[in-house]
Amino acid sequence: MIGVILVLICALMYYWNFRRMRKPIYDLSNKLPDVGNWSLLGHNHLFFGSPEKILKNVKELVEQMDEAGGISKVWIGSSFYFVSLNPEDVQKILENCLQKDDSYKFLRDWLGNGLFVAPVDLWKTQRRILVSIFHNRIIENYLDIFGQQGKVLVQRLNEQAGRPEFDVYPYISSCMLDIVYETAMGEKMDVQHNPDTPYLRARSCVMSIINMRLFKAWLQPDALFKLTPYAKLQKENIDYTHKFTDEVVAKKRLEARKGKNYEGQQDLLEILLNKDNEFSDKELREHIDSLTIAGNDTTALVISYTLHLLGLHEDEQDKVHAELLSIFGTSDRIPTKDDLNKMECLERAIKETMRLYTVVPIIGRMTQKEIQIGSYTLPPGVGCAVIPMVMHRSKRLWGADANSFNPDRFLPENSINRHPCAYIPFSFGARNCIGRHFGMLAMKSVLACTLRTFKVKSKPINRFKMEILLFPIPGHLITLDKRV
Ligand code: HEM
Repeated sequence: MIGVILVLICALMYYWNFRRMRKPIYDLSNKLPDVGNWSLLGHNHLFFGSPEKILKNVKELVEQMDEAGGISKVWIGSSFYFVSLNPEDVQKILENCLQKDDSYKFLRDWLGNGLFVAPVDLWKTQRRILVSIFHNRIIENYLDIFGQQGKVLVQRLNEQAGRPEFDVYPYISSCMLDIVYETAMGEKMDVQHNPDTPYLRARSCVMSIINMRLFKAWLQPDALFKLTPYAKLQKENIDYTHKFTDEVVAKKRLEARKGKNYEGQQDLLEILLNKDNEFSDKELREHIDSLTIAGNDTTALVISYTLHLLGLHEDEQDKVHAELLSIFGTSDRIPTKDDLNKMECLERAIKETMRLYTVVPIIGRMTQKEIQIGSYTLPPGVGCAVIPMVMHRSKRLWGADANSFNPDRFLPENSINRHPCAYIPFSFGARNCIGRHFGMLAMKSVLACTLRTFKVKSKPINRFKMEILLFPIPGHLITLDKRV
């Protein structure tokens, strides 16, 4: 009996201390408008069910917040998030809060301190080094890889021409995997011809488990997670993916030590290895894994959504095709830098696609020092949720036709008065997407190869889910007809 009482007293003291330490957060929470908050339950009730249901709930909640002025809060378990949908506030958050929010810790077992999740002190030095390998001059060396893989994609898509609708995403994803692996590590994976490998299965297993933890409050504490079978499954699959990258790093390190003669093109790993060996093998693995994971599904999704939207909007597809015809005529050459620069119409279509289907729907940051947002003072250690998925369709920011596909929104004359944070598919500020230029060139090249060869048709998609990124539930269903 005395034991039970002692445990109760300890638990109460722990809770009291926990509340005391977090008083500034509770004070802030009390001042913020309450939207969809169920008192003690917070917003947890919205995070039950399938990924489709959760996405629907989150979208509805945030849309209500938008209508109520754009500032609010979310409680998931004991995690608190300040939410703002106002571009001025978002700019302040993304410029001042470079630390990722606590929820990214679920990625740490996998990506360690790789750029994507690195704590801000470490991140500053790493970003400086990594930015140099994403210089335009270096990326332009990879245009041949983009084009060659685009050609393989077209050969593979030929099998679908003239046939009933099919999901184009697996084709595009394989193509982007081949591009990202060859440019990052020099590895010719040939996923386009061998799409089902143990490595890819391991990767997708880890992603599903991490995604589950992000939204299920009961899976978040490590102690509880370790009691579930997911913990073992996650570890086995993470170990498998680490082994894969470790082997490539070890091979390249050996080549560098033996004084390999790097004539012509170098992959990103080789460039990093030759930077006075500033990174250990483990750090290299963490960075390369971060780049390949951050760069593959994002670009593959945007390409697939662009094909889908152009399939729905024949007039816009005709404009893009006319532009491609004016650049290439009947030649099937690989797109050069000049060709890619001329693809303005295609670029606008991609941008508009990223607005309507924002593949990174939510960005989480954390305050490190006190910051003032409007009339609210955010203390250090507060989670901030930026939700481009909802901002990009906000009628307050984009007008009454916010939900319609209109690439001309991105004509220079129509973009003049737009706040820089009204449109943030690649985030904003010093911790924005390091691969955005790489991504845009690769997407344009692959889309140009596809749209020169095929006419695309599609039907509207109505069901989506959020599994870290935004996916359509039925897949990206399209039909293809070969152009003559
Ligand atoms: C359409 C394609 C892409 C989209 C929409 C996209 C979007 C984003 C966004 C929104 C972030 C910030 C995430 C956050 O703060 O939580 C980000 C960060 C990042 N992205 Fe991308 N990305 C794309 C392509 C790429 C590519 C091709 C690469 C690499 C080859 C890449 C590598 C990274 C890395 C390493 C970070 C972390 C940067 C840092 O923390 O300093 N991304 N991306």
